[in-house]
Amino acid sequence: MHKIVIKGGLPLNGEVQISGAKNAVLPLLFATLLSAGQSEICNVPDLRDIDTALSLLKILGAPTARAEDCCQVDARTIQSVEAPYDLVRTMRASVLVLGPLLARCGHARVSLPGGCAIGARPIDQHLKGFEALGARITLEHGYVEARAERLRGAHIIFDMPTVGGTENLLMATALAEGESIIENAAREPEIVQLAEALISMGAKIEGAGTARIHIEGVSSLQPLKISVMPDRIEAGTFMIAAAMTRGNVLVRGARQRDQEALLKKMTEAGAHIDATQDGLRVIGPDRLMPVDIRTSAFPGFPTDMQAQFMAMMSLADGTSRVSENVFENRFMHVCELQRLGADISIDGHSATIHGVKQLHGAPVMATDLRASACLILAGLAAENTTEVSRIYHLDRGYERIEAKLAKLGACIARVPE
Ligand code: UD1
Repeated sequence: MHKIVIKGGLPLNGEVQISGAKNAVLPLLFATLLSAGQSEICNVPDLRDIDTALSLLKILGAPTARAEDCCQVDARTIQSVEAPYDLVRTMRASVLVLGPLLARCGHARVSLPGGCAIGARPIDQHLKGFEALGARITLEHGYVEARAERLRGAHIIFDMPTVGGTENLLMATALAEGESIIENAAREPEIVQLAEALISMGAKIEGAGTARIHIEGVSSLQPLKISVMPDRIEAGTFMIAAAMTRGNVLVRGARQRDQEALLKKMTEAGAHIDATQDGLRVIGPDRLMPVDIRTSAFPGFPTDMQAQFMAMMSLADGTSRVSENVFENRFMHVCELQRLGADISIDGHSATIHGVKQLHGAPVMATDLRASACLILAGLAAENTTEVSRIYHLDRGYERIEAKLAKLGACIARVPE
């Protein structure tokens, strides 16, 4: 086990290259199961969640190989349709094999993901969608089992815009018989990339990126060859790191169109942001101003940036309010920020942050992926030393974060506990 040790207080300067997006690669890797061929995905980040996804593909009988940042998946034959508990519990996105397996093999058996640190996160909307496509769903011994001879196109209306649900149903309807419409679809950029990938494989999809997606099912798909989009959450995390440390950082690969809500709020907080050809340059202000945020589905403020933004607001000159509207129980970073001297109180889904002039280093514990990033950011801005333990969460979603921050001038190291 390792921990990250930060000696805070140094401004970050220079350039950082953003890696491929974790949340885009995962559905793309599972989409390779839709084609009886050999696919290749490039710009794949080196992350624990990607290792988990590759292990799952192997278990299903689709061997994988990695060379530099490219992953090959050989899905010519599928040997198993079961995603076991041990993998699903470490990565909920494993449920994204349901759609592809059901569409290709007519059968899928996937362990129920259960609760996770940031809330209950059910998959009822995914299952409701598969049922509308004619699948028979049973829940037994902790597993979801879905069966269908051939899926039939349907009109699916989600109760809420679910990212995973939209992705699962996009993959399933691509090979269903006839026309499907997904309404109240999630509109995240990762969904647009998945749709583009499926279209390049021969799928007929229109409207991805809007709340209404139209799919005309086809009988087979070609292998996938694609390069993954940059990770907008990693980019946002580095942008906040620059703003919080009075730094000046060019975040290479960050795209304005993926970040409008965050950019607006960071600008309100006093950060100076310039869009360049290569990415977004962020210059931090002398003192941050307080800003209120409310998380919601894209194009709203991303829940995956909430913890990092709160770390930034803990140093603002005044009081901010953060409302978390996507997940319940996503304030576990608050207690840890308080250990660093932040003045935050929680009332249900809202947190009130009274900005302080200075955070003070302390030992803290990461509770989930984005909470880990929030503590690293706080540690970068705090005086003295902050030690962040349980960083296995961080390794699920940030590629070599300490190396990238050190290159920007941070005093940061990964050391054994
Ligand atoms: C994805 C992202 C995650 C991000 C989240 C919201 C991946 C791998 N993960 O997660 O990083 O935080 O989107 O932007 O891309 N819900 C239901 N029933 C369902 C499905 C969802 O009630 O069947 C609820 C969830 O509990 C949550 C909300 O809908 O409250 C949004 O969840 P969803 O968009 O599905 O998130 P994920 O796909 O799990």
